[in-house]
Amino acid sequence: MRTQVCIIGGGPSGLLLSQLLHRKGVDSVVLERKSRAYVLARIRAGVLENGTVELLREAGVGSRMDKLGIVDEGIVIGAEKHGFRIDIKALAGKPMMVWGQTEITQDLYDARDAMGGVVIDEAEAVTPHDLDTDAPYVTWVKDGTEHRVDCDWVAGCDGFHGVSRQSIPKDVLKEYERVYPFGWLGILSETPPVTHEILYASHSRGFALASLRNENLSRYYVQVDQGDVVENWSDARFWDEFRTRIPAYMAERLVTGPSIEKSIAPLRSYVAEPMRWGRLFLVGDAAHIVPPTGAKGLNLAASDVHYLYDALTAHYLDDEDGGVETYAEKASARVWKATRFSWWFTTMMHRFPEQSEFDRRMQETELDFLEGSQAAQLALAENYVGLPL
Ligand code: APR
Ligand code: PHB
Repeated sequence: MRTQVCIIGGGPSGLLLSQLLHRKGVDSVVLERKSRAYVLARIRAGVLENGTVELLREAGVGSRMDKLGIVDEGIVIGAEKHGFRIDIKALAGKPMMVWGQTEITQDLYDARDAMGGVVIDEAEAVTPHDLDTDAPYVTWVKDGTEHRVDCDWVAGCDGFHGVSRQSIPKDVLKEYERVYPFGWLGILSETPPVTHEILYASHSRGFALASLRNENLSRYYVQVDQGDVVENWSDARFWDEFRTRIPAYMAERLVTGPSIEKSIAPLRSYVAEPMRWGRLFLVGDAAHIVPPTGAKGLNLAASDVHYLYDALTAHYLDDEDGGVETYAEKASARVWKATRFSWWFTTMMHRFPEQSEFDRRMQETELDFLEGSQAAQLALAENYVGLPL
C-alpha cells in the first residue's frame, strides 16, 4: 500500500488531520490501535478555543457543533466563599464553545466514513521505519497478518503512550516534565448544569470545577490526593465535597443525581522536543500533556494540526517547504505558552501538600489581584480564548 501521509493514531489529532488533508486532495491512511468503540467511549474536556472551532468548520465537521454546542462568553472564578466573573468575550473579543471531545471524535469518524477515508482500527504492533530517509514506511499487524504502507511523511498522532515519539533517538529527544501532587476526580451526571459559564473554584479543601455538556448533562470535578481511587468516592461523598467547595450561591441551586461516569486523572505538564525528526512529525498528546486547568489539551492538538495541515498542503499544492521546515519551531512555541498558562492556572487554584502559609497567601493574593485588575483579567482571557496561531 502507498499513501502520502501515514497517520499513526485515530484520536482527535489524527482524524482531524486526515479529514483536512483529504479535502485538499492529500491522501492519508490512519492506523489506530484500539477499536472504534473504545476511542468513542473516552470522555475528555470540552471547551474549544475560537481557532479550534474554525478549524473544525474548515474540516466540514462544524454543523452539529454550531447547532448543539454552547457558546460561552465568560468564566467564573470561585474564591472561597464568593466568586467573580471574567468576561472573556468582552476582553478578548471572542467567545469559547462548549462541545465535548466525544462528539468531535464521532463527527470526525462519520466524516471520514462518508468521504471513504482509510481508518484502520485494531492495528497492532504499529512500527514506523526509515524515518530519517526519503522513503519512510510503517508496518502493522491486523488479524495476524503483517501489512506495510509506504509514504512521504509520518504524522505521530498517537497520544502520550504512543510509539511515534519513541522512534526519535534518545540523544535527540529532550523531555520536560512536572507531575503535580494531586489528581482530579471527575463525574458526569444527567442533571441540569449548575452554571453555563465554567466555574474554576479555589477552596481551602482543594480545587473544584463545574462544567457541562448540554442542558441535562453536567461535568464536575474535585481535586483529590495523589494515589486516591474512585472506590473511595461514593456519589454522596462526591456531592458533599463538591458542594462545600463551590460558591454558596451556586451550592444552593446545585441539582445532584447518580453519576454515569466517574474517574480520577493525574495532572502533569510534559513537553517533548523536537516536534519533527526526519520525516516524522509529532502532533497533539504525542508531544505534550497539559494539566486540564484551562482545557488546553484538545486545543493544542488542534493548533499542531493547523500548522501541519498548512505545511503539508503547501508542500503538495504549492511545492513550498517553508512550513515543513518551521513546523517544529512554530508548534513548540505555542505549546510552551499554553504550558505556561495551564501551569500558572493550576498552581494558583490547587492546594499543594506541604504548602507553607506564605505559599497560601501568595495564591490568595494572586486571586485578589485577578479580581481587581483588568490587565490581569485580560491576560487570562487572551490565553483562555486561545493565543493567535
Ligand atoms: N499505534 C496506533 N495507535 C495508537 C498507538 C499505537 N502504538 N498508541 C496510541 N494510539 C492511539 C490511541 O489509541 C488513541 O486513539 O492514538 C490515539 C491518540 O489519541 P489521544 O490520546 O486522544 O491524543 P490526540 O489525538 O493527540 O488528542 C489530544 O486528547 O488526550 C486528549 O487532552 C487531550 O484533548 C486532548 C486530545
Ligand atoms: C470539562 O468540561 O471537562 C472541562 C472544562 C474546563 C476545563 C477542564 C475540563 O478546564
